This record gives sequence, structure tokens and C-alpha cells, in this order.
Amino acid sequence: MKQVQLLFKKTLSRIGQGSWYLDSAADSAQAIRAVQTGLDAGLTHIDTAEMYGDGMAETLLGEALLGRRDEAFLVSKVLPSNARYDTTIAACEQSLRRLQTDYLDSYLLHWRGQVPLEETVEAMEMLQQSGKIRSWGVSNFDVDDLIELHAITGDGKIACNQVLYHLEERTIEHELIDWCVAHDITVVAYSPFGHAQFPLESSAEGQLLRDIAQQYDASARQVALAFLCRSKNVVAIPKASTMRHVLDNAGALDLHLSQDDIARIAAAFPLQPHPGYLPMI
Ligand SMILES: NC(=O)c1ccc[n+]([C@@H]2O[C@H](COP(=O)([O-])OP(=O)(O)OC[C@H]3O[C@@H](n4cnc5c(N)ncnc54)[C@H](OP(=O)(O)O)[C@@H]3O)[C@@H](O)[C@H]2O)c1
Repeated sequence: MKQVQLLFKKTLSRIGQGSWYLDSAADSAQAIRAVQTGLDAGLTHIDTAEMYGDGMAETLLGEALLGRRDEAFLVSKVLPSNARYDTTIAACEQSLRRLQTDYLDSYLLHWRGQVPLEETVEAMEMLQQSGKIRSWGVSNFDVDDLIELHAITGDGKIACNQVLYHLEERTIEHELIDWCVAHDITVVAYSPFGHAQFPLESSAEGQLLRDIAQQYDASARQVALAFLCRSKNVVAIPKASTMRHVLDNAGALDLHLSQDDIARIAAAFPLQPHPGYLPMI
């Protein structure tokens, strides 16, 4: 697995750090140290959103990144309820204040709401021109939404699409990943451990992950991340609030699975028929 890939001429780590519920950690000093440990270990892609803890996750990340802002590829998201032109700009400025920075590496529409896409795109372009964001993208956009958005923007504008992707939820493999490859859009896998439903060690699937992990002196979570990031334009953002977990996840940066291992994992967690919508949480 390559450690980094290009997104709008800036590199981001293939494995990053999520921050949903990071502000709920029992020990916030420990959560801050975990993020910093992740940065040290190369997990430089850091994901947050104004929604997380009502801004508290951004505030915590602002503390974690003090003096180290430029080491990170920092991403935040605007809620669809704030996606009008003026409110997108205001929401971005509030995120910047909480994050104690003057720019975001990418800013995403969290999911599609009622606001016409043209209006949000106009705000994103203005934020980009003013240097407050370096790129922009979307989240939870299915292929039909992307086609509509792409008809407005053309090529080279949409940096990424952040979508649900884990071993037991592989819907994006039907069509979305290929569509994004064709349009040079990075796919960001959120909830790569299923949020809180990673296969139990005692299950047959959990045992398979452990067996494969043992061959590489790796962990089952590292194997899962390596599997999810096997396509060249897919990166993943596991959330971890403890140093042990962060370091474990960083170990996936250097893990390359064989084609045989990939086939065994794909068979153990089979691609289900397309449900007819894009699953999200
Ligand atoms: N765009 C969207 O709509 C959307 C939706 C959901 C999530 N996201 C983003 O994606 C990120 C990740 O998703 P998620 O937070 O839902 O869940 P996740 O990353 O799938 O799982 C997080 C859970 O896994 C645990 N964990 C992490 N690394 C571990 C390891 N190496 N070994 C054992 N346990 C480990 C964490 O524990 P500890 O915290 O105790 O370390 C936490 O309980 C979010 O934080 C957020 O930034 C985006």
C-alpha cells in the first residue's frame, strides 16, 4: 500500500484519523495525545465536521494541532442545513476558528440536503478563491448525485467523496469507486471498522482476518484497512482515541496484501447485491 497519494497537488496519508465522538473520550488530554501520536506515525489525513460534538471535536483537534497545523491534511464538513451560499461561508469560518487555523485542506458537504447544488458549489469556489480552503468535495454522494454535481463543475473540481465502506458494507464497489477513478475523485472510506461492529475474533471471518494478519505480523484491523484501501484512489479514516489503537492503525500504512489474501477476504465478506441506494450512517 502506498503511503500517500496526490489530491490537488497535496499528499494525504492513505490511512487517516476520524474524529466523530473524539470529544466524548473519557480523557480528552489522552485523545489529544492520540491524535498527535497519529501525526507522528504518519496518519496526517485528519477528518472532522462541524456536526461532531456540535463543534467540540473541531475544538479538540485545534488543540491537538497547535504548532503542527501544516503537518496535517485537515478536512471538515458543512451540514446540509448550512449549505446556502452565506451560511456555508459562515460555517467554514466558524470551523476555522474552532480549529485555530486559517485554512482547510478540504471542505466537504456532509450529505446532500435541500439546497440546490449550484449554490453550495458557488460558496465552495469562493472559499477556495479566498484561500480559506485548498479544495472541496462531498460526502454520502451516490453516483447519480455525482453525475449531477459533475455536470455543474466539470472535471478537476471535486476533490473527494467520503462514503461508508467497511468489510460488511461494500456497496461502493458496484459502481461508485470506478466512477470516481474515472473522474479523478478520491474515495474516502468512513467508518472502516463498521463504527462499532468489527468482526468478532471468535467468528469464522474474524479468525480469517487473524490468520492473514499472522502471516504479516500484523493485526486484524490492519488487514481490514489494507483490504479497503487496495484500490488506488481509496483512503480510509478510522477513528481512534487511544494511542494503542492509533499506532495499530498506522501499521496498516506499510501493509501490502497478496492477491490471494484479497480474494479470501472478499469471499468471507461477500459483496451483497446493490440495495438500490447508498448506505450511510
Ligand atoms: N461523512 C460521514 O457521513 C461520516 C459518517 C461516519 C463517520 N465519518 C468519519 O469517519 C470516521 C471513522 O468512522 P467511525 O468513527 O464511525 O468508526 P470506525 O473508525 O469504523 O470505528 C471506530 C471505533 O473503532 C475503535 N478502534 C479504532 N482503531 C482500533 C484498533 N486499531 N483496534 C481496536 N479498536 C479500534 C475505536 O476505539 P477508540 O476510539 O476507543 O480508540 C472506535 O470505537 C469518523 O470518526 C468520522 O471522522 C464520516
